[in-house]
Amino acid sequence: MPNVTDQLKQQAVDPELVVLLETITNCCQEIAGKLRLGALTGILGVTEDTNVQGETQKELDVIANDMLKEALLGLSSVAGIASEEEDLPVAGNANGRFLVLFDPLDGSSNIDVNVSVGTIFSVLPLPAGKSGGDESAYLQPGRAQLASGYALYGPATTLSMTTGQGVQQFVLDNNGQFTLAYEQMSIPADTKEFSINMSNQRFWAPEMQEYIADLLAGDQGVRGKNFNMRWIASMVADVHRVLTRGGIFTYPWDDRSPDKPGKLRLMYEGNPMSLLVEQAGGLATTCFGNILDIQPSKIHQRVAVALGSKHEIEVLLDAHKSALDSPAALLNR
Ligand code: AHG
Ligand code: MN
Ligand code: MN
Repeated sequence: MPNVTDQLKQQAVDPELVVLLETITNCCQEIAGKLRLGALTGILGVTEDTNVQGETQKELDVIANDMLKEALLGLSSVAGIASEEEDLPVAGNANGRFLVLFDPLDGSSNIDVNVSVGTIFSVLPLPAGKSGGDESAYLQPGRAQLASGYALYGPATTLSMTTGQGVQQFVLDNNGQFTLAYEQMSIPADTKEFSINMSNQRFWAPEMQEYIADLLAGDQGVRGKNFNMRWIASMVADVHRVLTRGGIFTYPWDDRSPDKPGKLRLMYEGNPMSLLVEQAGGLATTCFGNILDIQPSKIHQRVAVALGSKHEIEVLLDAHKSALDSPAALLNR
Protein backbone atom coordinates (compact mmCIF):
# COMPACT_ATOMS: atom_id res chain seq x y z
CA MET A 1 0.00 0.00 0.00
CA PRO A 2 1.19 3.56 -0.71
CA ASN A 3 2.84 5.65 1.97
CA VAL A 4 2.41 9.43 2.36
CA THR A 5 5.06 10.29 -0.24
CA ASP A 6 3.68 7.84 -2.83
CA GLN A 7 0.18 9.19 -2.33
CA LEU A 8 1.18 12.86 -2.61
CA LYS A 9 3.24 12.18 -5.73
CA GLN A 10 0.33 10.34 -7.28
CA GLN A 11 -1.76 13.45 -6.65
CA ALA A 12 0.90 15.52 -8.48
CA VAL A 13 1.39 17.74 -5.40
CA ASP A 14 4.13 20.41 -5.69
CA PRO A 15 7.41 18.57 -4.81
CA GLU A 16 8.40 21.22 -2.23
CA LEU A 17 5.04 20.81 -0.53
CA VAL A 18 5.56 17.03 -0.51
CA VAL A 19 8.85 17.48 1.38
CA LEU A 20 7.17 19.89 3.81
CA LEU A 21 4.33 17.44 4.54
CA GLU A 22 6.82 14.56 4.94
CA THR A 23 8.67 16.70 7.48
CA ILE A 24 5.49 17.25 9.48
CA THR A 25 4.56 13.56 9.37
CA ASN A 26 8.05 12.57 10.50
CA CYS A 27 7.68 14.87 13.51
CA CYS A 28 4.28 13.30 14.25
CA GLN A 29 5.93 9.86 14.33
CA GLU A 30 8.47 11.14 16.83
CA ILE A 31 5.75 12.67 18.98
CA ALA A 32 3.82 9.37 18.83
CA GLY A 33 6.97 7.62 20.09
CA LYS A 34 7.24 9.93 23.09
CA LEU A 35 3.55 9.60 23.92
CA ARG A 36 3.74 5.81 23.70
CA LEU A 37 6.11 5.71 26.67
CA GLY A 38 3.70 7.66 28.84
CA ALA A 39 4.97 8.53 32.30
CA LEU A 40 8.19 6.54 31.68
CA THR A 41 9.58 9.47 29.71
CA GLY A 42 9.23 11.67 32.80
CA ILE A 43 7.97 14.49 30.58
CA LEU A 44 4.30 14.46 31.39
CA GLY A 45 2.83 16.90 33.87
CA VAL A 46 2.54 20.62 34.06
CA THR A 47 5.40 23.04 33.40
CA GLU A 48 5.79 26.41 35.06
CA ASP A 49 5.19 28.25 31.79
CA THR A 50 1.89 29.58 30.52
CA ASN A 51 1.31 30.30 26.83
CA VAL A 52 0.13 33.60 25.38
CA GLN A 53 -3.49 32.52 25.86
CA GLY A 54 -2.98 32.16 29.61
CA GLU A 55 -3.10 28.35 29.66
CA THR A 56 -0.62 26.17 31.52
CA GLN A 57 1.61 24.33 29.06
CA LYS A 58 2.24 20.64 29.47
CA GLU A 59 5.84 19.73 28.92
CA LEU A 60 4.97 17.63 25.89
CA ASP A 61 3.26 20.67 24.33
CA VAL A 62 6.59 22.43 24.46
CA ILE A 63 8.57 19.46 23.18
CA ALA A 64 6.18 18.84 20.27
CA ASN A 65 6.21 22.55 19.46
CA ASP A 66 10.00 22.77 19.42
CA MET A 67 10.29 19.64 17.32
CA LEU A 68 7.95 20.94 14.59
CA LYS A 69 9.41 24.43 14.74
CA GLU A 70 13.00 23.30 14.32
CA ALA A 71 12.25 20.80 11.55
CA LEU A 72 10.09 23.21 9.55
CA LEU A 73 12.38 26.22 9.91
CA GLY A 74 15.18 24.01 8.55
CA LEU A 75 13.39 23.75 5.19
CA SER A 76 14.25 26.23 2.42
CA SER A 77 10.59 26.29 1.33
CA VAL A 78 9.26 27.50 4.70
CA ALA A 79 8.98 31.28 5.01
CA GLY A 80 7.67 31.12 8.55
CA ILE A 81 5.67 29.28 11.18
CA ALA A 82 2.92 30.19 13.61
CA SER A 83 1.98 27.96 16.53
CA GLU A 84 -0.61 27.94 19.27
CA GLU A 85 2.35 27.76 21.66
CA GLU A 86 4.30 30.72 20.21
CA ASP A 87 3.38 34.31 21.07
CA LEU A 88 4.35 35.57 17.61
CA PRO A 89 5.00 34.04 14.17
CA VAL A 90 8.64 33.05 13.58
CA ALA A 91 10.36 33.94 10.29
CA GLY A 92 12.04 31.15 8.31
CA ASN A 93 13.81 31.24 4.96
CA ALA A 94 13.58 34.63 3.23
CA ASN A 95 13.04 32.86 -0.11
CA GLY A 96 10.48 30.39 1.28
CA ARG A 97 7.02 30.07 -0.28
CA PHE A 98 5.02 28.45 2.50
CA LEU A 99 3.69 29.41 5.92
CA VAL A 100 2.97 26.55 8.32
CA LEU A 101 0.55 26.88 11.26
CA PHE A 102 0.08 24.22 13.92
CA ASP A 103 -1.38 23.12 17.22
CA PRO A 104 1.50 20.85 18.28
CA LEU A 105 -0.52 18.94 20.87
CA ASP A 106 -4.27 19.21 20.81
CA GLY A 107 -6.29 17.90 23.74
CA SER A 108 -3.30 18.18 26.04
CA SER A 109 -5.46 17.99 29.17
CA ASN A 110 -5.86 14.32 28.16
CA ILE A 111 -2.15 13.39 28.14
CA ASP A 112 -1.84 12.61 31.83
CA VAL A 113 -4.88 10.32 31.71
CA ASN A 114 -3.74 8.40 28.59
CA VAL A 115 -6.62 9.53 26.38
CA SER A 116 -6.15 10.36 22.68
CA VAL A 117 -4.41 13.59 21.71
CA GLY A 118 -3.16 14.87 18.36
CA THR A 119 -1.25 17.36 16.21
CA ILE A 120 -3.10 19.69 13.80
CA PHE A 121 -1.42 21.52 10.90
CA SER A 122 -2.26 23.95 8.11
CA VAL A 123 -0.19 25.25 5.16
CA LEU A 124 -0.75 28.66 3.55
CA PRO A 125 1.05 30.34 0.65
CA LEU A 126 3.27 33.32 1.52
CA PRO A 127 1.53 36.36 -0.04
CA ALA A 128 3.67 38.45 -2.42
CA GLY A 129 5.60 41.23 -0.70
CA LYS A 130 5.20 39.75 2.80
CA SER A 131 7.66 38.12 5.17
CA GLY A 132 7.10 35.02 7.30
CA GLY A 133 7.82 37.09 10.41
CA ASP A 134 4.80 39.38 9.81
CA GLU A 135 1.54 38.41 11.47
CA SER A 136 -0.33 40.00 8.54
CA ALA A 137 1.10 37.39 6.13
CA TYR A 138 -0.85 34.66 7.94
CA LEU A 139 -4.19 36.45 8.08
CA GLN A 140 -5.72 34.66 5.08
CA PRO A 141 -9.12 32.94 4.95
CA GLY A 142 -9.00 29.17 5.49
CA ARG A 143 -10.05 28.70 1.88
CA ALA A 144 -6.48 29.71 0.90
CA GLN A 145 -4.96 26.67 2.65
CA LEU A 146 -2.81 24.50 0.36
CA ALA A 147 -3.01 21.53 2.73
CA SER A 148 -4.19 20.64 6.21
CA GLY A 149 -4.35 17.59 8.40
CA TYR A 150 -3.93 16.03 11.80
CA ALA A 151 -2.20 13.12 13.45
CA LEU A 152 -4.27 11.31 16.05
CA TYR A 153 -2.33 9.48 18.76
CA GLY A 154 -4.94 6.92 19.75
CA PRO A 155 -5.04 3.11 19.94
CA ALA A 156 -3.61 3.46 16.42
CA THR A 157 -1.65 6.51 15.31
CA THR A 158 -3.41 7.84 12.23
CA LEU A 159 -2.82 10.72 9.85
CA SER A 160 -5.69 12.37 7.98
CA MET A 161 -4.67 14.88 5.37
CA THR A 162 -5.96 16.91 2.43
CA THR A 163 -4.29 18.83 -0.36
CA GLY A 164 -7.68 19.71 -1.82
CA GLN A 165 -8.20 16.30 -3.46
CA GLY A 166 -10.39 14.65 -0.84
CA VAL A 167 -9.19 13.38 2.54
CA GLN A 168 -6.80 10.44 2.80
CA GLN A 169 -6.22 8.50 6.00
CA PHE A 170 -2.95 6.74 6.81
CA VAL A 171 -2.13 4.42 9.71
CA LEU A 172 1.32 4.24 11.32
CA ASP A 173 2.41 0.63 10.84
CA ASN A 174 4.92 -1.41 12.83
CA ASN A 175 7.68 -0.49 10.37
CA GLY A 176 7.27 3.18 11.23
CA GLN A 177 5.50 4.07 7.94
CA PHE A 178 2.26 5.98 7.55
CA THR A 179 0.45 3.61 5.17
CA LEU A 180 -2.69 4.50 3.22
CA ALA A 181 -5.79 3.00 4.85
CA TYR A 182 -8.62 5.04 3.26
CA GLU A 183 -8.28 6.83 -0.05
CA GLN A 184 -11.37 9.04 0.42
CA MET A 185 -12.89 9.72 3.82
CA SER A 186 -16.55 10.64 3.50
CA ILE A 187 -18.89 11.96 6.21
CA PRO A 188 -22.40 10.46 6.10
CA ALA A 189 -24.91 13.31 5.54
CA ASP A 190 -27.29 12.12 8.28
CA THR A 191 -26.46 11.30 11.88
CA LYS A 192 -27.83 10.60 15.34
CA GLU A 193 -24.67 11.59 17.23
CA PHE A 194 -23.57 14.96 18.61
CA SER A 195 -20.52 16.21 20.48
CA ILE A 196 -20.57 19.21 22.81
CA ASN A 197 -19.34 20.04 26.30
CA MET A 198 -22.73 20.01 28.07
CA SER A 199 -21.29 21.58 31.23
CA ASN A 200 -21.25 24.92 29.40
CA GLN A 201 -24.94 24.79 28.56
CA ARG A 202 -25.93 27.80 30.66
CA PHE A 203 -23.45 30.02 28.76
CA TRP A 204 -24.67 29.21 25.23
CA ALA A 205 -26.79 31.47 23.03
CA PRO A 206 -30.57 30.80 23.14
CA GLU A 207 -30.55 29.26 19.62
CA MET A 208 -27.95 26.66 20.63
CA GLN A 209 -29.85 25.94 23.85
CA GLU A 210 -32.99 25.24 21.84
CA TYR A 211 -31.26 23.14 19.19
CA ILE A 212 -29.58 20.90 21.80
CA ALA A 213 -32.81 20.66 23.82
CA ASP A 214 -34.49 19.24 20.69
CA LEU A 215 -31.73 16.61 20.35
CA LEU A 216 -32.07 15.67 24.03
CA ALA A 217 -35.85 15.33 23.68
CA GLY A 218 -35.16 12.49 21.22
CA ASP A 219 -38.15 10.61 19.85
CA GLN A 220 -40.41 12.49 22.28
CA GLY A 221 -39.60 15.85 20.63
CA VAL A 222 -39.74 17.62 17.26
CA ARG A 223 -36.79 15.64 15.85
CA GLY A 224 -38.65 12.34 16.32
CA LYS A 225 -35.47 10.29 16.84
CA ASN A 226 -33.02 9.58 19.64
CA PHE A 227 -29.52 11.09 19.61
CA ASN A 228 -26.36 9.81 21.29
CA MET A 229 -23.69 12.08 22.81
CA ARG A 230 -19.87 11.78 22.82
CA TRP A 231 -17.27 14.25 24.17
CA ILE A 232 -13.59 13.25 24.30
CA ALA A 233 -12.30 16.81 24.93
CA SER A 234 -9.63 16.38 22.26
CA MET A 235 -10.85 18.06 19.09
CA VAL A 236 -8.70 15.74 16.99
CA ALA A 237 -10.37 12.64 18.42
CA ASP A 238 -13.91 14.08 18.24
CA VAL A 239 -13.40 15.30 14.65
CA HIS A 240 -11.82 11.97 13.70
CA ARG A 241 -14.98 10.20 14.85
CA VAL A 242 -17.09 12.62 12.78
CA LEU A 243 -14.91 12.03 9.69
CA THR A 244 -15.16 8.27 10.21
CA ARG A 245 -18.81 7.63 11.03
CA GLY A 246 -20.52 11.03 10.89
CA GLY A 247 -21.97 13.19 13.64
CA ILE A 248 -21.64 16.82 14.56
CA PHE A 249 -18.99 18.40 16.74
CA THR A 250 -19.44 21.87 18.18
CA TYR A 251 -17.64 24.22 20.53
CA PRO A 252 -20.16 27.04 20.17
CA TRP A 253 -20.11 30.71 21.01
CA ASP A 254 -20.73 31.31 24.71
CA ASP A 255 -20.98 34.38 26.93
CA ARG A 256 -18.12 33.59 29.35
CA SER A 257 -15.60 36.02 27.80
CA PRO A 258 -17.19 38.67 25.61
CA ASP A 259 -13.96 39.23 23.66
CA LYS A 260 -13.71 35.54 22.62
CA PRO A 261 -16.39 34.00 20.40
CA GLY A 262 -15.47 30.47 21.53
CA LYS A 263 -12.62 28.38 22.87
CA LEU A 264 -11.10 27.00 19.69
CA ARG A 265 -8.53 28.83 17.62
CA LEU A 266 -9.34 29.78 14.04
CA MET A 267 -5.84 29.37 12.58
CA TYR A 268 -4.69 26.17 14.34
CA GLU A 269 -7.98 24.30 14.84
CA GLY A 270 -10.98 25.85 13.05
CA ASN A 271 -9.49 26.31 9.57
CA PRO A 272 -7.50 23.06 9.18
CA MET A 273 -10.37 20.92 10.50
CA SER A 274 -12.96 22.80 8.41
CA LEU A 275 -11.00 22.14 5.21
CA LEU A 276 -10.87 18.41 6.01
CA VAL A 277 -14.58 18.32 6.82
CA GLU A 278 -15.56 20.11 3.60
CA GLN A 279 -13.25 17.87 1.57
CA ALA A 280 -15.04 14.86 3.11
CA GLY A 281 -18.48 16.19 2.12
CA GLY A 282 -19.46 17.81 5.45
CA LEU A 283 -20.07 21.41 6.52
CA ALA A 284 -18.15 23.67 8.92
CA THR A 285 -19.72 26.87 10.25
CA THR A 286 -19.74 29.39 13.07
CA CYS A 287 -23.58 28.97 12.97
CA PHE A 288 -23.71 32.22 11.01
CA GLY A 289 -21.20 31.74 8.21
CA ASN A 290 -18.70 29.33 6.73
CA ILE A 291 -15.51 29.10 8.82
CA LEU A 292 -13.30 28.92 5.72
CA ASP A 293 -14.59 32.33 4.53
CA ILE A 294 -13.63 34.23 7.70
CA GLN A 295 -11.09 37.01 7.17
CA PRO A 296 -8.84 36.59 10.25
CA SER A 297 -7.88 39.72 12.17
CA LYS A 298 -5.27 38.20 14.52
CA ILE A 299 -3.19 35.09 14.64
CA HIS A 300 -4.50 33.68 17.94
CA GLN A 301 -8.14 34.53 17.13
CA ARG A 302 -10.87 32.30 18.62
CA VAL A 303 -13.87 31.09 16.70
CA ALA A 304 -17.20 29.34 17.29
CA VAL A 305 -17.10 25.96 15.55
CA ALA A 306 -19.84 23.57 14.42
CA LEU A 307 -18.91 20.92 11.88
CA GLY A 308 -19.85 17.52 10.54
CA SER A 309 -22.73 15.72 8.82
CA LYS A 310 -24.25 17.96 6.15
CA HIS A 311 -27.95 17.51 6.89
CA GLU A 312 -27.52 17.91 10.66
CA ILE A 313 -25.45 21.10 10.27
CA GLU A 314 -28.23 22.40 8.01
CA VAL A 315 -30.74 21.84 10.84
CA LEU A 316 -28.40 23.70 13.21
CA LEU A 317 -28.06 26.60 10.73
CA ASP A 318 -31.81 26.73 10.39
CA ALA A 319 -32.13 27.05 14.18
CA HIS A 320 -29.89 30.13 14.03
CA LYS A 321 -31.66 31.89 11.14
CA SER A 322 -33.94 34.03 13.27
CA ALA A 323 -30.94 35.51 15.14
CA LEU A 324 -29.67 36.89 11.83
CA ASP A 325 -32.62 39.33 11.86
CA SER A 326 -31.66 40.72 15.24
CA PRO A 327 -28.38 42.68 15.30
CA ALA A 328 -28.54 42.87 19.13
CA ALA A 329 -28.65 39.07 19.42
CA LEU A 330 -25.60 38.86 17.16
CA LEU A 331 -23.41 41.20 19.20
CA ASN A 332 -19.94 39.65 19.64
CA ARG A 333 -20.90 36.51 17.75
P1 AHG B 1 -5.59 22.39 23.38
O1 AHG B 1 -5.25 21.19 24.21
O2 AHG B 1 -4.77 22.50 22.13
O3 AHG B 1 -5.61 23.66 24.19
O4 AHG B 1 -7.09 22.21 22.80
C1 AHG B 1 -8.10 21.71 23.60
C2 AHG B 1 -9.43 22.01 22.97
C3 AHG B 1 -9.96 20.93 22.05
O5 AHG B 1 -9.09 19.94 21.70
C4 AHG B 1 -11.12 20.34 22.80
O6 AHG B 1 -12.17 20.07 21.92
C5 AHG B 1 -11.49 21.39 23.79
O7 AHG B 1 -10.35 22.16 24.01
C6 AHG B 1 -11.94 20.78 25.10
O8 AHG B 1 -12.43 21.79 25.91
P2 AHG B 1 -13.13 21.53 27.32
O9 AHG B 1 -12.04 21.21 28.27
O10 AHG B 1 -13.80 22.85 27.60
O11 AHG B 1 -14.12 20.41 27.15
MN1 MN C 1 -6.03 22.41 20.48
MN1 MN D 1 -2.54 22.58 21.95
